[in-house]
Amino acid sequence: MRFTRQAAVALVAVAALFSAAACSSSEDPAAEKNVEVFTWWADGGEKAGLDGLVAQFGTACPDFAFVNGAVAGGAGSNAKSVLASRLQTNDPPSTFQAHAGAELSDYINADQVEDISAQYAEWGLTSAFPKGLIDNITVDGKIYSVPANIHRANVLWSNKTVLAKAGITADATTLDAFIADLDKLKAKGVATPLALGKDWTQVMLLESVLISDLGADKFTGLWNGSTDWKGADVTAAIEKFKKLLTYSNADRDTFDWTDAEKLIMEGKAAYQLMGDWEAADLDAKGFKDYGYSVFPGNTGTFQWLADAFVLPKGAKNVEGTKCWLKTVGSAEGQKAFNVKKGSIPARTDVSSDGFPAYQQAAMTSWKADKQVPSCAHGSACSQGLQGAIVSAAGKFSTDGDVAALQNALAAAAAQFAAKK
Ligand code: GAL
Repeated sequence: MRFTRQAAVALVAVAALFSAAACSSSEDPAAEKNVEVFTWWADGGEKAGLDGLVAQFGTACPDFAFVNGAVAGGAGSNAKSVLASRLQTNDPPSTFQAHAGAELSDYINADQVEDISAQYAEWGLTSAFPKGLIDNITVDGKIYSVPANIHRANVLWSNKTVLAKAGITADATTLDAFIADLDKLKAKGVATPLALGKDWTQVMLLESVLISDLGADKFTGLWNGSTDWKGADVTAAIEKFKKLLTYSNADRDTFDWTDAEKLIMEGKAAYQLMGDWEAADLDAKGFKDYGYSVFPGNTGTFQWLADAFVLPKGAKNVEGTKCWLKTVGSAEGQKAFNVKKGSIPARTDVSSDGFPAYQQAAMTSWKADKQVPSCAHGSACSQGLQGAIVSAAGKFSTDGDVAALQNALAAAAAQFAAKK
């Protein structure tokens, strides 16, 4: 083979490229400043909340640079599997989002996150969060995450004009009254009285119906083993859930929560059960004609979940991650984030001044109401149980078999309880 001058020049160029690449991954001083924050907040109100937190991070942590590792998809439907494979291959982001409660325990049990109890003392966080929340995120006396917020899951959103046209002037407070309203909407020709999305959004609806029928304490008992999934009250709740599905869009199984929300914004649907990230999202999208109320039959019960951030084992920029976590836990960070995210601060010392009306109302309910956890958003159940319930709900959406769904729920609860 003849070695031409052009080939030699090309070889030198390729070698230069390789050394530049090697330098950027291991020696580039800029890369050492990077803090990759892994979330599923890629758009709308979720992105607006994240942006608020990032701005505060820029102020509080000028030595570090935020890198957005968001993977789009409501409730982490895509992000969680991407994260799982990154953790498995020892390629963790600098920090990632996880739900306080059972979901976080999964990461703790798998030894994937660091104990940050020492930082709690250093940053004054131990007294900043409510005791119940601290208890919830403490495992064997250690804390592994910093909660950013409290979200509420059991909220019913509506298009005010669509309701007014059907003569609905008051919020239904029982499931029967709600069904009567859905019938009125149907009679008025509203295409989708109740907008709904795929699997996890259906689980949210089912959980709200279970809260209505069982009450707060028995609902919580479903997750700690004290309520029987095979009971007649659960059967009755599933029957009502089945009835509610008949008022929803037929293409629900292909919809993310934002697709269902769009039906509300377009006036094609009247109601949607969704967490209060919907307030922020509707605001971010400039839609003003919306109403909200607690899901019928859930009055006095606040179904909570909390987004928290962690220091993964093997994180590349530990100091940068700590600065992110400190920002997340700070009063300024919680305000900057929650004002835009639809949630309320997890800290107890952030004033409600400057928060939208929805969050001000949520702050009052959070203090006054009975608190119950959410399985769709990890505060009530492990990822294994959540996955089993989501897939049972997905099957039910197609076959409507009440007994099969109840058996699947009972079997999943028994299987995952046995693993503890
Ligand atoms: C939840 C999360 C919220 C919101 C929602 C919709 O799991 O806690 O912050 O992002 O999913 O994607």
